[in-house]
Formats: sequence, structure tokens, C-alpha cells
Amino acid sequence: MAVLKIDNVSKTFGETRVLEDINIAMAEGEFLILVGPSGCGKSTLLNMIAGLETISSGTITLDDTPVNDRSPRERDIAMVFQFYALYPNMNVRKNIEFGLKMRGVDKGERAKTVERVAKMLQIENLLDRKPAQLSGGQRQRVAIGRALARDPALFLFDEPLSNLDAKLRVEMRTEIKQLHQRLKTAMVYVTHDQIEAMTLGDRIAVMNEGRVQQLGTPHEIYDNPANRYVAGFIGSPAMNFIECEFANGSVRLSSPEASLDLALPEATADKLAKHGQSKVVMGVRPEHLAPADGDEANALACPIEIVEPTGPDTYLLTHINDIEVTARCTPSVAPDVGTTMPLTFDTERAVFFDCQSDERIA
Ligand SMILES: Nc1ncnc2c1ncn2[C@@H]1O[C@H](COP(=O)(O)OP(=O)(O)OP(=O)(O)O)[C@@H](O)[C@H]1O
Ligand SMILES: [Mg+2]
Repeated sequence: MAVLKIDNVSKTFGETRVLEDINIAMAEGEFLILVGPSGCGKSTLLNMIAGLETISSGTITLDDTPVNDRSPRERDIAMVFQFYALYPNMNVRKNIEFGLKMRGVDKGERAKTVERVAKMLQIENLLDRKPAQLSGGQRQRVAIGRALARDPALFLFDEPLSNLDAKLRVEMRTEIKQLHQRLKTAMVYVTHDQIEAMTLGDRIAVMNEGRVQQLGTPHEIYDNPANRYVAGFIGSPAMNFIECEFANGSVRLSSPEASLDLALPEATADKLAKHGQSKVVMGVRPEHLAPADGDEANALACPIEIVEPTGPDTYLLTHINDIEVTARCTPSVAPDVGTTMPLTFDTERAVFFDCQSDERIA
């Protein structure tokens, strides 16, 4: 049974089309991420699921019931917003139980719920405080607590961590993941942070310009991006895109100091040959472009222009085919700036895109 089904859903605001033909089916207990740049339609889609925004065409189904015409209150959903939207004049306890009170839940039951939720989120000692007396992280916890009190069939989160500082964001991210593992309730989580998407999601819908570019597990999205947009959006530092000529099973690569005909795996070469265009874009992630480890046959000598240590990894910047590329290495083999290093390509992991359409070809 699908908890949530989105079928051919589109949205227009007046003349402007902001969502185009969205199709997503969510399994029970799934953690689904909607990720994409600002303005791509993430919040609009989430608001349509919640019933806060009308649906221009298509159908949204919750627990096998079409809900297009149902009000937010008639949907078994709880939502956590980017801005906590707590009632400033109510203390934490009242904020958490407010929704239950509105639904006529009796006092004893409400107290039990507040206790359960506060314990889960470790905010028992904050129950008598007003929102103004809380830190950002604590406020966000209360906002999540208010959603948890509902015990809904589906949780919706709209960038709940984007107002927190970097360290707290990472901590809360882990907490939300633990929460999901404990509750096993389906969640749709909006973010524009690709790391959040990768670490939290069972599946990720990568959106751009009102369309789902790819829907898949983090692993599928990272290893098998459907197009150049997805490939560039997921992964940090970003995938390198090197325009190159394909001929005779190889691609031609040049650094300012050397050139190489890089032989491709047979399956890749076959697909590129079938595609029939010599100019292609090779996508290589920094971790698949690394200092040669003894085997220098498939290596290209590259002058290292910038060295960026990050702690566990060091990134090396150089130019290949006049494009700035990033290679990754362990700090112990990091060269000095200005040295020339042979870099090898993991051709099994390289992907290829059409120069014009940006669609994946191999
Ligand atoms: N009420 C509205 N009227 C007209 N256009 C709107 C309305 N709400 C949103 N839009 C437009 O729809 C598009 C999608 O907006 P939306 O808020 O869904 O983006 P988003 O992906 O959530 O972005 P962000 O990451 O900045 O929150 C934007 O171009 C926005 O300007
Ligand atoms: Mg938004």
C-alpha cells in the first residue's frame, strides 16, 4: 500500500507553471527527500500534499484515498516548517498540546502525550518556558514535538534545520534520522542541502525547474545520475565535467603538460560508439581521479595548482582540457603546490553525457 501517491500533478500560479507532471509513490515507513535549488517547487509540492495549496491538475492520494478536495485538517498529516511557527505567548507544554486540544483530546491524554514527546526529544526540562526563552535548536525541537504529538500517518518537513548553525544542524539531522527509525512513520522531507538528502533519505527526488529529474536511493542517485544536472547537484566537491573527443574506444585528455588517450571499458565505449557523436562530456567524481598508485599507464601528468586540505581528505586542483578539475587524495600523498603529479581515472566509475541535451549516454 502506498502511504502517499502523487499522480501527474502539476501546479500553475496564474500563467506560471511551477510544477510539471510529478509522479511519486511512497511506501509505508519510507523517508523521502525532496531536494533541489531555491524556487524549484519543493515547498509548493509539500504544501499541496498538506492541503495548504490547491492542485492544478493530477491527483494526490493518501492511504489509497484521493485527497485533492480535502482540507488540511481532514488529512492525517503533521507538518514542521522552516520557521518554527510556535505560539509565542504559550509555553512549550501548551505549544505541544495545542493541536490535541483543538481536536478535543481530554486533559489526561494530552498530558501523557506531552510526556511521551518531551521524553523522546529530551525537552522535559523546557516545558514551562516560552519560545523566546529557547535557543534555535530547542525551538525546532518543540516544533517537531508538536508534530509528533499528532501521531499522524505522514510527516512533512520543510527545511526544518536551515535556520540552525552548522554544528547543530548535523546533530539535529542525526536526531531526525533516529526519530524516523524509532517511529517508522513515513516522512517527506524538503531540503536544498544535498548532504542532508544523502544522509537522511531512503529515496531522494532531485528536483529542478518544477520537475523531478531523478527519483532513487542515495546510492542510485550518486552512482548512476540520470543527467548532468543530478550528477552536478549531488556530491561535494561536485563531479568534474570534462568535455572531450571520443574516438576508437578512448577519450583524449590534455593537461598543460601532457596528453593521454584514456581507454574506456568496453561497455562504455560501445555506448559512446552507438551514440555516434565524437564530442562528449565525461563526468568524474573527485574520488575517482586520484594520484597514480604505481600504475601510471592510464595516468595524466598534471601540474597541481591548488592544494586544499580538509582533514580526512585533501583536494587537488588542476586543469584538464582547459577545465578546472578537482582530484581527491589522502593527506599523506598530497603533493606541494606547483608539483606535477600523474593522476589516474577510475574509468569504471566515469559517466558520460550528451554535450547538448546533458542526458546520460553511458
Ligand atoms: N503564491 C504564489 N504565487 C505565485 N508564484 C508562487 C507562489 N508561491 C510560489 N511561487 C513560485 O513558485 C516557484 C516555486 O516556489 P517554492 O516556494 O515551491 O520553491 P522552493 O523549491 O520551496 O524554494 P526554496 O528552496 O527557496 O524554499 C517559485 O518560482 C515561486 O516564486
Ligand atoms: Mg521552500
